[in-house]
Amino acid sequence: MAARIIAVAPFDLVVFGATGDLAQRKLIPALFNRDRHGQVPPEARIIGASRRAMTEKQFRDFARTALAQHAKLTDADKALVESFLERLTYVTLDAEDESGWDALAALMATGKGNIPVYYLATGPDLFGPICARLKSHGLAENDARVVIEKPIGKDGDSARALNDAVAMAFPESRVYRIDHYLGKETVQNLMALRFANSMFEPLWNAAHIDNVQITVAETLGLQGRAGYYDTAGAMRDMVQNHLLQLLCLIAMEPPPTLHADSVRDEKLKILKSLDPITVANVNQLTVRGQYRAGVSGGASAPSYLEDLGAPESRTETFVAIKAGIGNWRWAGVPFYLRTGKRLATRLSDIVITFRVIPHSVFDASAGGIEPNRLVIRLQPDEGVKLCIMIKDPGPGGMRLQYIPLDMSFADSFGVENPDAYERLIMDVVRGNQTLFMRRDEVEAAWNWVDPILDAWKGSLDAPKPYAAGTWGPSASVAMIERDGRTWYDDGEG
Ligand code: BG6
Repeated sequence: MAARIIAVAPFDLVVFGATGDLAQRKLIPALFNRDRHGQVPPEARIIGASRRAMTEKQFRDFARTALAQHAKLTDADKALVESFLERLTYVTLDAEDESGWDALAALMATGKGNIPVYYLATGPDLFGPICARLKSHGLAENDARVVIEKPIGKDGDSARALNDAVAMAFPESRVYRIDHYLGKETVQNLMALRFANSMFEPLWNAAHIDNVQITVAETLGLQGRAGYYDTAGAMRDMVQNHLLQLLCLIAMEPPPTLHADSVRDEKLKILKSLDPITVANVNQLTVRGQYRAGVSGGASAPSYLEDLGAPESRTETFVAIKAGIGNWRWAGVPFYLRTGKRLATRLSDIVITFRVIPHSVFDASAGGIEPNRLVIRLQPDEGVKLCIMIKDPGPGGMRLQYIPLDMSFADSFGVENPDAYERLIMDVVRGNQTLFMRRDEVEAAWNWVDPILDAWKGSLDAPKPYAAGTWGPSASVAMIERDGRTWYDDGEG
C-alpha cells in the first residue's frame, strides 16, 4: 500500500546544535526521508547553527556522512542525497554571545515567507539564551516556532524556569515540546483503536479492565551518553516523559476532537489524578535497579559502573512502578510501568488485561479460562494483538484454547513507518501541536515524579542490582506478584 504524502508549506528550519548527536542520528536523516518522499517543498531550507566553525561545504559533508550512517540509503538514493544537501547551509554562532546572530538574521530575512522553525537540539542550559537572542534579533516574531526536547528540567522547579525562559520569546501556541514516543506509529494507533472502534470504549474502565502494563525495555546501555544519563536515570529519562505520556493516552477520557488542546486537556487531567507516591508508600509501589555485568544480546555486557567509568553511582537504570489513577473510570486499576537499560530484549508494549469472566459454563475438562488481553506492540514489529478464548478446533469435546488475533502492521500493510521525528517535524511545520506536550503537562508530570525522586534520595537503600540481559531486579517481579499478577510475557498469548 502506498503511503499518502501531503506536502507541507515552505519552511526554514534552523537546527541549533547542528553538529551534535541528535542532529546527526535523527534530525538530518528524518528531513532527508521526508524530502525523499516528496513532502519537503523545493523552497524549504535547512540551516545548521552551532559554535563549531564550519563552512557550508563542510556542513554538507558532515550531513552526507550522517546520512550514510543513519539513513538506510540505497544506490538509487545517491542523487537524492545530493539534491537534499543543496538545501543545507550553515551559520557559526555562539548561543551565549552576539557572534553570528546578525548573519543568521540576514539569512532568515531572505526566507521569502518561509515558516521559520527553530529546533533547539542543544542542552537545556542553552534554551533560555537562544530564545532570548532569537527575540532580540527579531527572529521570534509572527509565525516562528521553537522546538525543544527533554530533558525539560530535572525537577518541577527547573522545568518551570526553562518554560518561563522560552515563554519570554515564544507564546505557548508556538512552542513544540517533543516527546518522540508520541510520534511512533503505534502510539497514534492507540487513539485509532480507542476512538475509531465502538467495541473497546464501553469496556475501557475499572468495571472491565483488571490491570494495564506498560513496558519499555531496551537492550542498549549508555551509548556514549554517560554524563547525561548519570544525572538523569531511568525515572527522568523515560518515566517522566515517555511512559507517562503513554499512560495518559490509555487512561484519558475521549477528547471531543483531536485538536491539540482537547487532547492535552484530557492528558493533563490524568497527570493530575495520579495517586501520589511519597516516602510513606514508595517501597511498596516502586522498584529501582541498576545493571551489573551479564550477557546481553548474546555477548557479555559490562556493568553500569563499568559503562560509566566510575567507582560508584546510585543512578537507577531500571524502574518499575505501580501507579494508580484516582478517578471514577480507573479507581482500583493498577497501571504497572517498567523500563530499563540492558534488559533481556528490546520490547515496548502496552498490555490491557480485561477482567476474568464472572462465571464459567464449561466443565473442568474444557481447561482454564484466561482473561482477554489487548496487546499494543510499539516496537519492534509494531502491531496489535487481541487474545481471546476459542474452542479447540475439531472433535474431542469442548476444550478451550487461548489464542491471539495477531496483526503485524509491517505484514499487513507493507508500509515502512516513518521515524517518529519525521512525523513530528512535519507537524511542527503544519502547526499541529496535538503530539507535543503542553507546558502544564510537563510540569504536572514533574509534580508526580518529584516526590518519588525525593523519597529515593532520602532512602538509605541503593538501587537493586540486576544482571544485564535479564528483566530487572527480582523485586519488580515480587511487586506485581504481591497483587496476584505477573508481568505479561509476549510468548503467552
Ligand atoms: C530517549 C532516551 O528519549 O529514548 C534514551 O533518552 C532511550 O535513553 C530512547 O534509549 C529510547 O527511544 P526508542 O525510540 O529507541 O525506544
